[in-house]
Amino acid sequence: MKKIIAAAALSLFCLGTAQAADDITLPAKNGNVTFTHKKHQESLKDCKVCHGEGTPGKLTLDKDSAHKLCKGCHETKKAGPTRCGECHKK
Ligand code: HEC
Ligand code: HEC
Ligand code: HEC
Repeated sequence: MKKIIAAAALSLFCLGTAQAADDITLPAKNGNVTFTHKKHQESLKDCKVCHGEGTPGKLTLDKDSAHKLCKGCHETKKAGPTRCGECHKK
């Protein structure tokens, strides 16, 4: 029984690491940002806007690059949060 549970947990873990999580928490001192990766993937239908050319993988954001990328698109599209407290949640 224990073995079956361990195997199930392991396969779930492998599935989870094969691609990004549905929601990704981006840590920030002034309140973590919950990024709905799956929802963005589905609505934008394009990895390149965020990941650039090549195979999408780890993406390192800092304050400036994140604000430019995230807020920039929300402003252009007039959709998605642009105010601090809408992204940064304590
Ligand atoms: C709106 C921006 C955006 C779009 C569109 C997007 N991603 Fe991401 N993706 C991110 C961010 C932000 C992260 C998390 C960065 C971090 O914490 O490492 C991420 C993380 C990932 C990771 C996990 C990397 C790791 O090692 O943890 C994978 C894999 C990935 N994305 C694949 C894709 C694929 C495939 C697509 C297109 C179908 C896509 N992404 C579209 C922004 C985006
Ligand atoms: C290329 C465009 C684009 C980029 C880049 C982008 N977003 Fe969005 N985002 C959107 C759109 C469009 C919506 C509105 C979706 C809707 O209402 O269906 C949205 C909605 C959101 C929401 C509201 C919750 C939700 O899922 O609807 C959050 C939070 C968010 N974005 C965070 C981020 C963060 C953090 C980043 C950067 C890592 C980012 N976005 C990058 C287009 C973008
Ligand atoms: C669209 C979502 C979004 C909005 C709106 C937004 N931010 Fe951010 N912010 C982020 C993301 C994503 C990061 C990067 C988190 C990371 O590096 O993991 C960030 C990083 C930061 C950081 C750095 C935190 C640290 O721990 O280094 C500060 C400070 C900050 N934001 C302040 C603000 C202020 C002030 C506003 C309003 C004027 C604002 N942000 C609006 C998404 C947003």
